[in-house]
Amino acid sequence: MHAPRCDQTPAWSALATHFDVAGRAFDLRQAFAQEPGRAAALSLAAPEVHADLSKNHWDATTRSLLLQLARECQLEARRAALLAGEPVNHTEGRAVLHTALRAPKGQGAFSEEVHEVLERMLAFVEAVRASACEPDGIRHIVNIGIGGSDLGPQMVVPALDAWVHPQIQCHFVSNVDGHDIVPVLRRLDARRTLFIVASKTFTTQETMANAEVARAWFLQAYGEGAEAAIGRHFVATTTNIEAAARFGIHTTFGFWDWVGGRYSLWSAIGLPIALAIGAENFRALLAGAHAMDRHFASAPLEANLPIQLGLLDVWYRNFHGYTSRSVAPYHQGLKRLPAYLQQLEMESNGKCVDQDGAALPYGTSPVVWGEAGTNGQHAYFQMLHQGTDVIPVEFIAVKTPEYGPAPLPDAVRTGLADQHRKLLANCLAQSQALMQGKATEEALGEKAPTASKSLGALTIARHRTFPGNRPSTTLVLERLTPASLGALIALYEHRVWASGALWGINSFDQWGVELGKALCSQLLPRLANGDISGLDGSTAALLQRLRH
Ligand code: F6P
Repeated sequence: MHAPRCDQTPAWSALATHFDVAGRAFDLRQAFAQEPGRAAALSLAAPEVHADLSKNHWDATTRSLLLQLARECQLEARRAALLAGEPVNHTEGRAVLHTALRAPKGQGAFSEEVHEVLERMLAFVEAVRASACEPDGIRHIVNIGIGGSDLGPQMVVPALDAWVHPQIQCHFVSNVDGHDIVPVLRRLDARRTLFIVASKTFTTQETMANAEVARAWFLQAYGEGAEAAIGRHFVATTTNIEAAARFGIHTTFGFWDWVGGRYSLWSAIGLPIALAIGAENFRALLAGAHAMDRHFASAPLEANLPIQLGLLDVWYRNFHGYTSRSVAPYHQGLKRLPAYLQQLEMESNGKCVDQDGAALPYGTSPVVWGEAGTNGQHAYFQMLHQGTDVIPVEFIAVKTPEYGPAPLPDAVRTGLADQHRKLLANCLAQSQALMQGKATEEALGEKAPTASKSLGALTIARHRTFPGNRPSTTLVLERLTPASLGALIALYEHRVWASGALWGINSFDQWGVELGKALCSQLLPRLANGDISGLDGSTAALLQRLRH
C-alpha cells in the first residue's frame, strides 16, 4: 500500500514547529515538577512488560502530534497489511509473517505447516533431551549459523539459563574466523554432540565453511562408524532442504521465505533454544510473543507500547537529532540483547531510500548499542552522563531473579537477595542521575577528597557538574521467564516495524549486506594468487601485506 511519507504530512510540519517552540528546550525536571501525575500518565502496560516512558522529552502536545503523524502515515492500515500477510517486503515480493509462527494452532496464516514443523521439532527435542542423561546421549549442542540464524538463540539461551537442561550445553559458532569454532571443538565429545547447521538460505559463506570444518572434525574425532553416524549428529534448520541434503544432512526442520532471518528465532531456527529449555518452555516463549502480538494488533495507538516506542524513536531521531540509543539490561542473562537488537533494528531500518527508491531527506535507524548493567556503568556511562551527545537510554529491570531449580544454601540466598537489591538500586539510580544531573553550585558545596589541591574549587566543580535532563525509558518485567522474554522480543520487533513504517522504508530487506559479500568473493582468489590488478591503492597494499 502507498501511504504518505512522514515528511510530507501536516503532522511532520507541526512537530517541527512544536520542537522549535517547546521540544528543544524541554526540561524533564520541570516537567515532573509541573505534572504530579506524569509518571502514571506516561506509564504503559503491555503483556508481561510495564513501561515507564515518563523520563522522555515529550509532553501531551508532542504525543498528540505523534499520534496525528501515525494516523496521517496510515499506520493502522499498514499494520493490518503486515498482519494479513500482504507482501509488505515489496522489494523481495514477500509477506512478513513471523507472527504466524507463534499463533496458536488453528489460528494465523500457514497454521498447518507451522504446527507440523513445530510438533516434529519438539518431539525431536524431547527425544534428545531424554538421551542427555544416558551414557551415550547428547550433551553438547553446537549451533552453526550467523546473523538471524545465530543471534536469537544465542541471546535467548543464556537469558533463560534457569530453565536450561542441567546436562545440556549449548555452543554457538558464527564467525568464519577459525578462532570461533576451534575452542568449541576442543571441548566436545563427538559421540555426545549434536551439530545444528542453521541457515535460511544454506548458502551463507561463514556457515557453510564452519559446517565443513565441523564435519571434517567429526569424521576424525568419532572414529569408526563416523560416516554412518553423521546422520544422527548433524541436523539442519533451513528453507533450503535440498541444499542441506546435498551437504549430507537428512534430518531437517524447515521454515519459509516469509520468515525474515532476524525474525526467525520462533521458527526451526529456535531449535537450540528448544533443546536447551524443553518443549513446554519453548511453547511458553511463543505464547508470550503471541500475547504481545495481540496487544500490537489491537491496542489503540495511544496505549500501544510498540507503537509508542516507535513514535518516540522518530521524535528523537528526526527532531532532536539523536543518532544513537543505548540499551542497558539489568539482567546478566540479557547480555547478548544489545547485539541481537543491533541486527533487528539496524538491519531492518538502516535504509536510505523510501518504498519507491527515492533518497530520504531524514535520518532512519539510530545506532543501537549497549551492555548489561552494571558493567556498562563502569565503562561508557561516563559519556552518557557528561558527554557532549545526548543518548537516550533504555533500562530493562527484572523485579524477581531466577537462579534455577538447584537448591542454594541459606547464606547464598541471603547474599543473592542483597545483590539483587543492589542491581535494582543501580538501575534506578542511573536513570535518576541522567535526569537530575548536578548543578555546578551543588558540586561547589560538596567535598571532593580525590580532587587535585592545585586547582580552584570552581574548576573542580565544573568538572563535577552533570548537565542532567538526559532521557531514558525503563521497561520492567516481573520475572524473566520464557513467556516474558517472548513478549519482550516481540515488543522490540513491532517497535522496529513501527518506526520503519513511519519512515516509509522497507524494514524487511537487507540489500546493504550484498556488496561486501560480492567483493569478498572477488578478493578471495586474489588473496591466494596475489593479483592486485584494478584494485584501489589501499586495498592492493593491504592485500599484499595480508597474503602469505
Ligand atoms: O547478513 C545478512 C543475512 O542475510 C541476515 O539477514 C541473515 O540473518 C544472515 O545473513 C544469515 O543468513 P542465512 O540464515 O541464510 O545463513
